[in-house]
Amino acid sequence: MRSRPQPRSSRRPAPRADAGGGAAPRETSWERVATWYDGWVGDRGSVYHRELAIPAVLELLEPRQGESVLDLGGGQGVLAPYLVDAGTRVTVVDASARLIASAKRRHARLPGARFLVGDARRLPAVAGLDAGTFDAATVMLAIQDMDPLSDVVRGLDWALASSARIVLLMTHPAFRQPRHSGWGYDEGRKLTYRRIDGYLTEMAVPMKSLGGGLPTRSFHRPIGAYVNALAEVGFAVDAMREIADLPPDRRPGRGTRGDARGNAEIPIFLGLRAVRR
Ligand SMILES: C[S@@+](CC[C@H](N)C(=O)[O-])C[C@H]1O[C@@H](n2cnc3c(N)ncnc32)[C@H](O)[C@@H]1O
Repeated sequence: MRSRPQPRSSRRPAPRADAGGGAAPRETSWERVATWYDGWVGDRGSVYHRELAIPAVLELLEPRQGESVLDLGGGQGVLAPYLVDAGTRVTVVDASARLIASAKRRHARLPGARFLVGDARRLPAVAGLDAGTFDAATVMLAIQDMDPLSDVVRGLDWALASSARIVLLMTHPAFRQPRHSGWGYDEGRKLTYRRIDGYLTEMAVPMKSLGGGLPTRSFHRPIGAYVNALAEVGFAVDAMREIADLPPDRRPGRGTRGDARGNAEIPIFLGLRAVRR
């Protein structure tokens, strides 16, 4: 049975990870669904990674030869080979020890790649990371799994060099909020529309159980929360991409979500690039 979304104000503060070594935080890590997620993503990514998320991240990042990139919440390392192909050195940090073990297995021979277990909210505690050493950071499909956001952006500020950029790629907060949006059909106008019944209120939404594991939580925030959290640590958004879903005939799974027009018109993903001011 699905439990109801919890408004943020009614949630207890998230417990902190144990001290020492950037240990995995139980409450947001995908450790419990790691086997399923690793199998779903594979070596080069799901169709959503390959066709939508990864191209958008690379377009916003504009990786340069020899740069050092931190991929935060990098899971089983799907972005790493693409970043290495683009000429960068990549450090993947994720809270799930099992996903990081998969990343090491899958990408053992990737030159210049490191895979570290660590909590995005406590980056200075992650063994192997040093302050001010990365030229750029990516957070692909993971920022909505992390909370509180302010701790994550403070960690990014700590890890990044004086001239640096951050790329966030997320499910579009204005149109695809879990349990607070969905497709509808207007008989009178004969068109598919998107229903939105919540946006401004931040909330932690339990997601349906993935791969038979315990449910993860998604942290919904309006777009302004990201822009303002980045601004708090001195980063200004200078580019944004709103990305349409795949056409229905190229989407795996249920074929009933939206239609071609609705999917082409209402974005599934939002990409933000922020640069240090
Ligand atoms: C949807 S997965 C995305 C993984 C990868 N970026 C990808 O696109 O396949 C979200 C990831 O965020 C990680 N995560 C959640 N909370 C975290 C935290 N506090 N610190 C580090 N990683 C975290 C999870 O363990 C999970 O691997």
